Amino acid sequence: MVGGAALLAAVVVIAGSCRQDASETSDAVEEVSDSIETIDPVALETLPEGFDADKVELGRKSYVVCSVCHGLDGHGTALGPSLRDTTWIDITGTAPEIAQVIRDGVANPREFPSPMPVMGGGEFGEEELDALVAYVQALSRS
Ligand code: HEC
Repeated sequence: MVGGAALLAAVVVIAGSCRQDASETSDAVEEVSDSIETIDPVALETLPEGFDADKVELGRKSYVVCSVCHGLDGHGTALGPSLRDTTWIDITGTAPEIAQVIRDGVANPREFPSPMPVMGGGEFGEEELDALVAYVQALSRS
């Protein structure tokens, strides 16, 4: 899984450099969020009842880190499972479980060849984590 690791490293490096110098990389940031708008509007369009649109939107922005393995549309890749089907591998799909998986990662995946890193390899505060959980739940129900 060298390819996946390299890709993930690249995303982390890009994310890191965005934080350090927002002015130089603002175009790149815009490109990423634009592509997410285009590729995956479904979760917002079919937002299940009771979901806060602003929170889900914040989660969607953080999800770029996750998309390396779970796909920009959440349907999964060779490196990570779909988050949009009704079946879960490690959990039953409740918010606390999703938060726990993101916090801890998955050291020993059952169906995939390499682990999910802690926080998916990203750095998220409580608010972002909470938003990610809402986004994943919205995805899984849309
Ligand atoms: C390097 C690849 C990778 C990245 C990046 C990654 N994941 Fe994962 N994820 C996995 C793997 C592998 C599993 C475990 C699947 C298994 O047990 O076979 C998993 C499992 C999950 C699960 C449980 C799925 C289930 O069916 O039980 C959730 C939810 C999840 N990831 C969310 C996220 C979120 C949110 C992010 C971003 C913050 C993220 N992941 C980033 C690879 C990744």
